[in-house]
Amino acid sequence: MRSTRIVEMLEVTEAAALAAGRWMGKGDKHAADDAAVEGMREAFNCVEIDGTVVIGEGERDEAPMLFIGEKVGAGGEPIDIAVDPLEGTNLTADGQSNSLAVLAFGPQGSLLHAPDTYMKKVAVGPDAYDAVHVDASATENIRNVAAALKRPVEDLVVCILQRDRHIELIREVRAAGARIRLITDGDVFGAVATAIEGTGIHLYLGTGAAPEGVLACAAMKCIGGCFMGRFEWRSPEEKARAVEMGTPGIDSVLTMDTLVQTDEAAFIATGVTDGEMLRGVKYFGGGARTNSVAMDAKSKTVRFIDTIYRTGTEKFWVRMD
Ligand code: FBP
Repeated sequence: MRSTRIVEMLEVTEAAALAAGRWMGKGDKHAADDAAVEGMREAFNCVEIDGTVVIGEGERDEAPMLFIGEKVGAGGEPIDIAVDPLEGTNLTADGQSNSLAVLAFGPQGSLLHAPDTYMKKVAVGPDAYDAVHVDASATENIRNVAAALKRPVEDLVVCILQRDRHIELIREVRAAGARIRLITDGDVFGAVATAIEGTGIHLYLGTGAAPEGVLACAAMKCIGGCFMGRFEWRSPEEKARAVEMGTPGIDSVLTMDTLVQTDEAAFIATGVTDGEMLRGVKYFGGGARTNSVAMDAKSKTVRFIDTIYRTGTEKFWVRMD
């Protein structure tokens, strides 16, 4: 049953978040990441899948667990899995908002095997689906999104990663008249937020990590948003490695169907630290509470899920909020 699979996979991101959340504000992003990876890896052992990690912690020689190509699961349906056990390691280490434990899955061969490089990205919610293009200028995208959303440019908020490479982009967005939400990390949230009302973000622009682009695209496939990308190679060697790996879209626009070649993708995220989309992990005597979103293109469902894990024998009141 599809809902069983979704709940099983939900327990995987919850395990990563429960482990990483303990490192909130401790200033050690590597320990936070290691905890998330271990938590996620262990949880996969209980899921009845024959999973292949197509996006993970790196290549086999650089990542001990959840490396690209690693097989996970207890056996069963063959599927592709993209993971980011801790999206926003600095955010967790600094106790800042919107760090997430994330995964996406789809039928075998459906998720683009994105190399560890950069990707220029644009993302927008369903109402402005046709209004953006990754090769259009920021000004053009902003004008078209404002028209599609029937609001003045001044009422648009564009999310951008705060990086030196974006100085010119930020200048252009300001000149166009839109407002900006700069984020220090975590562009899966930045992109997906454009398709979730209430986050206050209408458009995502800029360059971030390529694997995160595939994860964000999987979410957008599930909720009807638009995501488009283009690889930005940092060196000829990096590009040659991608050619060797058989990565599609080396020099072309990465459409949603190139990045996620299925209408049966699912995306699951659990909050590690509090944010606009999800609350972070709360620990209390005898238990912990997680908050997640599970988006499934196949069953056309979006579930926001609160889970209470009772770890001790103490009695406690279950609260509604
Ligand atoms: P972590 O890998 O530390 O979790 O960072 C994630 C992230 O902020 C992504 O959300 C983003 O795509 C990428 O890093 C940006 O990379 P860079 O920090 O090299 O600009």
